[in-house]
Amino acid sequence: MAVSDTVALEVSAVSKSFPGVRALDNVALTLRAGEIHALIGENGAGKSTLIKIITGLYQPEAGHLHMNGSEVRFASPREAIEAGISFVPQERNLIPGFSVGENIMLERMPTRAGVFADYRRVNEEAKKWLDVIGLDVSPTAIVSSLSAAQMQLVETARALSLESRVLLLDEPTASITPHETVFLFNVLRGLRDRGVAILFVSHKMEEVFDLCDRVTVLRDGRNTAANEDLAAMDRDRLVSLMIGRTHIITELPAKSVKREQPALRVRGLQAESGTRGVDFDLYGGEVLGLYGLVGAGRSELANALIGASRVTAGEILVNGGPAHIHSVADAVNKYGIGYVSENRKTEGLILSHTIIANVSITIWRRIAGWLGWISGRTEKSVVSRFVGQLDIKTPSLNQLVNNLSGGNQQKVSLAKWLAAEAKVLIIDEPTIGIDIKTKYALHELIWELAGQGRAILLISSEMPEMIRLADRILVMKGHRIVAEFNNTHQYDEISSTIIKCLT
Ligand SMILES: Nc1ncnc2c1ncn2[C@@H]1O[C@H](COP(=O)(O)OP(=O)(O)OP(=O)(O)O)[C@@H](O)[C@H]1O
Ligand SMILES: [Mg+2]
Repeated sequence: MAVSDTVALEVSAVSKSFPGVRALDNVALTLRAGEIHALIGENGAGKSTLIKIITGLYQPEAGHLHMNGSEVRFASPREAIEAGISFVPQERNLIPGFSVGENIMLERMPTRAGVFADYRRVNEEAKKWLDVIGLDVSPTAIVSSLSAAQMQLVETARALSLESRVLLLDEPTASITPHETVFLFNVLRGLRDRGVAILFVSHKMEEVFDLCDRVTVLRDGRNTAANEDLAAMDRDRLVSLMIGRTHIITELPAKSVKREQPALRVRGLQAESGTRGVDFDLYGGEVLGLYGLVGAGRSELANALIGASRVTAGEILVNGGPAHIHSVADAVNKYGIGYVSENRKTEGLILSHTIIANVSITIWRRIAGWLGWISGRTEKSVVSRFVGQLDIKTPSLNQLVNNLSGGNQQKVSLAKWLAAEAKVLIIDEPTIGIDIKTKYALHELIWELAGQGRAILLISSEMPEMIRLADRILVMKGHRIVAEFNNTHQYDEISSTIIKCLT
């Protein structure tokens, strides 16, 4: 269906500053009924800030919002919801101790006799929206027991359940797999065809071209494009609108792996997290890819390796010697095994501290030396190297992590682990939420770390990333390794091999 002429929401000349940062400068965007409109730009470009202004979380310093021709001003998200705008925020916004159903129905709990929550109706209604999104969890499940992907889908179900005419989605596919993405896109296309106006933020170019009708691009808080037709746009032009140039992929230099003593050897590993009979070897200098669908048990295996889940059988050898890993601290301090978790934002960062404090928590020991004394200068130089390499956008190293954009927070937690000089580094979905330019910078960094002799276990749902970086690939299904092969880096060949293993 063609995009209609009906303007659902008009943003004009909106500006917003934070101390030291001009987050939005004179930004415009027109959202029409019956379109999916992509909002793209590098980490820190201002996408989430714009969404927070539209949804009443922030107030603009200048500029206007119009809906159906008349000016609107929302003092709170509740007012925006009442005006028919719903949104999926970039940061998960669920109440962990509440059930899935309660979270979905939070804004309008059905009550019995006007007082008591009517749980039968809450759960029925919630179930309906879970089905729409294709998520197979019970409405009575407690949110804190869900995976990152499931939480993201619950958040989406909640936004859909409001049945708004304007739907804003801030990176809704960041932590869900291609399989779930297909499901979500079908839902979004259905809504578009019913005249809903959809704004969609993503760092994945394929998604933008696959799903969206028009595009607005932000760079450093300014429009480099507004409301352009995607049909008339190619990938190179879009990349250059975002980052000012097109070429971002550099060839990774050849690297050889000596397969003598494995840095990590796993035999018959079984753990409470569900891991069953897992065997593999990982060598220094090697990137070993671990591929699988959501629920395949990859993060659970990682948890068993770092002592976060109890090992019930089998053994782990580090540099040939048996390792007894009872906690994450054991893994890092005794055996040099670091884990950059998929939930790194909640597990790995102290949001109310500065960038410098966050990154240096794990490098503390190395820099502090045996006296436990830490030199502010050394700390600063290590941290600023990573800030530069990963292009972390911040007015200063003393900025609170809480004030950074979502992607830049991800980068801080990666930097924190990369700085830890672990011998074995397990990296779970490294490029979630990270912009296209930094993604390739990060690939180079991972490659460099392996080149220095680190052993890297790379968990990724992104097939191109896996095929680019891995030396060997393990495929996991039902908590077991079902295949292992050398990576020829030939995309078509390897992706069809992987798909065969999974079906
Ligand atoms: N509450 C805040 N306090 C201070 N600075 C902020 C705050 N919120 C955002 N910023 C800054 O505003 C700029 C825009 O951030 P925003 O979150 O809108 O980026 P984004 O485009 O959504 O990036 P990402 O792709 O990483 O999510 C960034 O430089 C960010 O650090
Ligand atoms: Mg954002």
